[in-house]
Parts: sequence; structure tokens; C-alpha cells
Amino acid sequence: MKHLIDPMDLSVEEINDLLVLADDIILDKTKYRDVCKYKTLATCFFEPSTRTRLSFEAAMLELGGNVLGFSSADSSSAAKGESVTDTARTVACYADIIAMRHPKEGAPFVATRGLTVPIINAGDGGHNHPTQTLTDLLTIHREKGHFDNLVVGLCGDLKFGRTVHSLIKALTRYKNIHFVLISPEELRVPEYIFEDVLKKSNVTYEEARTMEEVMDKLDILYMTRVQRERFFNEADYIRLKDSYILDVEKLKKAKSDLTIMHPLPRVNEISVLVDEDPRAAYFRQALYGKYIRMALIMKMLGLK
Ligand code: NCD
Repeated sequence: MKHLIDPMDLSVEEINDLLVLADDIILDKTKYRDVCKYKTLATCFFEPSTRTRLSFEAAMLELGGNVLGFSSADSSSAAKGESVTDTARTVACYADIIAMRHPKEGAPFVATRGLTVPIINAGDGGHNHPTQTLTDLLTIHREKGHFDNLVVGLCGDLKFGRTVHSLIKALTRYKNIHFVLISPEELRVPEYIFEDVLKKSNVTYEEARTMEEVMDKLDILYMTRVQRERFFNEADYIRLKDSYILDVEKLKKAKSDLTIMHPLPRVNEISVLVDEDPRAAYFRQALYGKYIRMALIMKMLGLK
């Protein structure tokens, strides 16, 4: 794998290798503290981020490497009209590997043109977010111990939520997965996910409009925020933003070993009282994001 643009760029075997490596890092991080000495990661973020950018940077620093980059389009030459391809080619003069987030679908792919260093898509518009998917897979692996035979509820903005699209793609490759897609009519997963991903794979799925009606059957509940920045119309956002709020009451019907995930940031869709519930895995998930990115950086630089 030279670049990581789409979650399907990784085979199931490659994902397994990353999970094994992440498990080993969790066991003893000190073993890896010099692996990336003299290597530099550039984070080129044209869109806001807390976890993705900082976990990439923390990952590289914990591997003994260096980091540089920018965290908004305004602070890069994009503000002067530079293309992503030119920005990436320039950054490649100063770094060994690039993580790029961009509001335009496909921008990190376009940036691969003529690029001599590996690039990682850290989120492109409402399209894909492969390293969040790796984070999610490590979370499921650590919390559940397997990927097969799971009923996975995805709730919220399934239309614009790139983490949802990438996770669905990745999970279709495991056995006996059943998706429960919980969203308002207007925020259902895009047509290509139904046609090209769900219907072409071995998974089964159902749709629901409320969480209450499906709560008792879920093994995983993956909550997402309504993606305000991708709406054309603020009034639609305001109308839909509080469609789903997970609270202690609703969880009474859930399985005792449910895993509650959320890529974060949370806006209003999970009550803070749920944070105390041992089934709430979202802050553990944020930590796993660092470990899996450590594994990914090592693999992509050919250092492991
Ligand atoms: C997600 C994203 O950027 O798509 N955040 C993240 O990377 N953890 C989810 C979101 O912004 O809602």
C-alpha cells in the first residue's frame, strides 16, 4: 500500500496486521519509541479537527519522529489559490509521510498525482475517513474481540457522515454482519452505499427511524453528529440536529454488553450522563485512534 485514500485500499489481512501491531504497541509502547527517528509526518488539514490531527501527531511523536503542518486552509497557500497537488508536492519536500484532510471529496486522491511520499486521507468531505475506520475496527476488536456475527446500529447523519460510509465498507468483508441504519428519511446513507456496497456484499441491513425500536438487538451502537458544515441550508440543520439523543433511559432496553461508539466530536447526541456507563466506549475509541495510527505510520513507512 503506497497511499491510504479509501478504507478498501487495505485488505483484510493488512488490517489484521495493523490490529496485531496496535495490540503490541498497547502492551509495551516503549518498544517503538525510536522507530520513526529522523522521519517526519506532515499534517495538512484544510478542515477543523481535534482527534484526527492530534492523534496523528501524538502517534508520530511517540514513535520518536517529528511533525509539522497546518491546521486550517487559511494558514496555508490554499488561501492564495494553490492546488492541493502543488501543496502536497511541496510538503513532500519536507516530510516522509502526509496526512491530509480536505472539505472536497477526492482531494487527497488528487494530491497523490506525482507524489513521492505516501499520503493518508484524514477525511475528504462527506466521502471517506479510512483512519477513523481503522480506529473503529481497533475499538471493536478490543471491546468485542471479533468482527463476525455482530448487529451494528449506525445512528444519526448517515448521509454526510464519512466515518459511517467508510465503516460500512470495511465491515461488509466480515461474516454475518447485520446493519441497522437509524436516520431521518433525509439523512439516509447515500444511494451508492445501498447499491454498490450493501447490496453487493454478503451483509443484511434494515432501516429504522427511531433508536427505541431497535435498541434491544444491537451489539454496537455507533452514534454520529449531524454534519452541520455539509448542509446547504441552516434551517434544515436546525430541524434535524436533535433527531437522536442517546440517554440513560433509552439504554435501559439495550444489551448489557452493548458497545457505544462515536467518532466524536459530540454535539448533543449523547447525554453526558451516558459517559459513566461502562458500555460507553467513545473516549477509549479516541485513544485507540492514536495506537492504530502509530501502527499505520510504521507500516506505510515500511518500518515494521
Ligand atoms: C469525524 C470526522 O471528521 O468525520 N471526526 C473525527 O475525525 N473523529 C466525525 C465528525 O466530525 O462528526
